[in-house]
Amino acid sequence: MNPAVNFLGELEQVTEHWSPQIVGRVNDQYVKVAKIKGEFVWHKHENEDELFYVVKGRLVMRYENGDIILNEGDFHVVPKGVMHNPQADEECWIVLVETVTTTHAGDTEAEHSKTIEEQLAGRSFEIPAR
Ligand code: NI
Repeated sequence: MNPAVNFLGELEQVTEHWSPQIVGRVNDQYVKVAKIKGEFVWHKHENEDELFYVVKGRLVMRYENGDIILNEGDFHVVPKGVMHNPQADEECWIVLVETVTTTHAGDTEAEHSKTIEEQLAGRSFEIPAR
């Protein structure tokens, strides 16, 4: 049986900004937690939507035609194929739901882009490959 997982507890263990950690899998989606601060990088995911849920703090999702503000408790789905750039002035704790094939920074080569292996690192459970 899968254990109960606590988002706050998982987030407390995250030590690095912009380094999502996979904490679960639902069918073809990974559930991840991340701490973010500052600005990421402009990118898009050609074939995958991406869900951002703010556990703590405030996140600004920048789009080419305007910003979406996410406060604690808010979630937002970034549509596939749309350029976006997440940003947080102060440290922000988030939950992400992303398709297993989604790359961290989309089609952009980001200096701090993390591989799926890195996003699984340090976890005490393994998520079976399909
Ligand atoms: Ni993205």
